[in-house]
Amino acid sequence: MSTRPNIAIFASGNGSNMQAIMDYEHLAGEVVLLVCDQPDAYVLERAKEHNLPSFVCSPKHKANKQAYEQSIIQALQKYEVDVIVLAGYMRLIGPDLLHAYEGNIINIHPSLLPSFKGLQAIEQAVEAGVKVTGVTIHYVDEGMDTGPIIAQEAVEIEVDDTLQDVEEKIHAVEHRLYPLTINKIIQEQ
Ligand code: GRF
Repeated sequence: MSTRPNIAIFASGNGSNMQAIMDYEHLAGEVVLLVCDQPDAYVLERAKEHNLPSFVCSPKHKANKQAYEQSIIQALQKYEVDVIVLAGYMRLIGPDLLHAYEGNIINIHPSLLPSFKGLQAIEQAVEAGVKVTGVTIHYVDEGMDTGPIIAQEAVEIEVDDTLQDVEEKIHAVEHRLYPLTINKIIQEQ
């Protein structure tokens, strides 16, 4: 891998993590592409503001997941992408993408995995009444939120915290930890 690898961010929604990565001044790689599966997602506005090219592709318009992922792989090759950073990308990565970018796909999840996998992890933690939840960054494998863990940070849930309070604490940790962890994996490669 080059000393300053090219990064593609995959996102489906708001894109606050993408924003944090783009705003981080000491990123050891260059974000060259946003891949988005939702044509109306706010993350596309953020990409425009950063003059970041977007590849928008809905699986609905493709024959199957393989065709969908092959079109993404072509875009990644065009931009010479080395590392894929999932940031609120609401789909499982299929075999084609996993194989093409084996060991070079990372994801962020708003819980201390392996607790509270899947959707609405922050709500799951609040409803379970746990006193500590957090953020996990991990390599992606074929499972949902199951790959090897790279970094974790705990967030305490206070007795009078609302769901919104916990969400804000988690997102603040995500926005700090994700750029630092991207640098860590790039420097180790
Ligand atoms: C984050 O909480 C992330 O952990 C999860 O999806 C959310 C994305 O938020 N995978 P945003 O789109 O980056 O604001």
